[in-house]
Amino acid sequence: MSYPKLVIDRQTMRDNIKNIIDTCEKSGVEVVAVVKGVNGLPGIMEVVMEAGAKTIASSRLSQLRKAKEMNPHIKTYALRIPMLSEIEELVESADISLNSELEVLEKIDAVCKAKGITHDVIIMCELGDLREGIYDQKELLEVVKEVEEDLTSLNLLGIGTNLGCYGSIMPTVEKMNELIALADLVSETIGRKIEVVSGGASTSYPLVGRGETPEGITQLRIGDGLYINDLDECFNFETLEKEALTLQAEIVELRDKPSHPIGEIAVNAFGDKVEYEDKGIRKRALIAVGKQDIGDYGHLRPLDEKIDVIGGSSDHTIIDVTDSDREYKLGDIMEFHLMYETMLMTTQSEYVEKEYI
Ligand SMILES: Cc1ncc(COP(=O)(O)O)c(C=O)c1O
Repeated sequence: MSYPKLVIDRQTMRDNIKNIIDTCEKSGVEVVAVVKGVNGLPGIMEVVMEAGAKTIASSRLSQLRKAKEMNPHIKTYALRIPMLSEIEELVESADISLNSELEVLEKIDAVCKAKGITHDVIIMCELGDLREGIYDQKELLEVVKEVEEDLTSLNLLGIGTNLGCYGSIMPTVEKMNELIALADLVSETIGRKIEVVSGGASTSYPLVGRGETPEGITQLRIGDGLYINDLDECFNFETLEKEALTLQAEIVELRDKPSHPIGEIAVNAFGDKVEYEDKGIRKRALIAVGKQDIGDYGHLRPLDEKIDVIGGSSDHTIIDVTDSDREYKLGDIMEFHLMYETMLMTTQSEYVEKEYI
């Protein structure tokens, strides 16, 4: 086995996901399991399905196709507003899609008609995070009316929203109630109760965990919260009891060096101007994993709490080990838990070995 390596603890991951599904079920909330953040790795999708997920979601249609190949009974759910250029592929790969553009909905309907199939859609509503979703209530009601009455190859499952992405907006009870009020209006407009009110992603899960989700939210689309504990401190909530993903990387240089660069300072390898703190001579380990494998090194969470990730380039990450209780040696393996970006990057990097235990 080579390094860097991502160790995937299947049993822990299965228990974690099962726990989240069970907790949501008790509040009448269905979990749509998002696999985009783990690059739809088949080994992880298998664990997700074993844990009891009935619907697999991704923004990447190839991952949905893979999920169907693995289990033809699994429901597939497309997260990103479909491109007009991918509708043929969308209806072949996804049973359900999130939508916000009438033109796209009309094209999905036309393609489905030509193929003699139907497709389930959820209409996204803008509640202030300012990524996808219809903002104007009048427009929302016109769209759902047209989908319900005219686009007969589409089945309007319900509505949804996305929070905690672009605008960093916190999913609160008030935001959930706003969505439920829109769902009631939609149901009234189309003359039947919609099945799905999709209340957001991992950041909406603390509401369920605390038993605060208002009745009327029927679904969450949970991704990173299934795999890692990386909700920001402002949520004051851990989604998992134990981490299932650990990144291992090997020390390739271990030396005492000044902490402040010596010479005229320009920009680093990525063109950024960096401020360096002068802490005198420090013991630093260079590990063989870099931005090409992990993205931003600041999103690594070292298991040794007394080491400090201080920098990196495409192939290396630099760790200050001066204050650690451990006597590190060349060739030692350092371990890290992940955050969203480092999970996204390591799972899709061909240079990071994957080991299932
Ligand atoms: C529309 C939508 N819903 C849910 C998710 C899952 O988000 P998270 O991984 O934060 O749970 C994503 C992430 O890609 C998304 O784009």
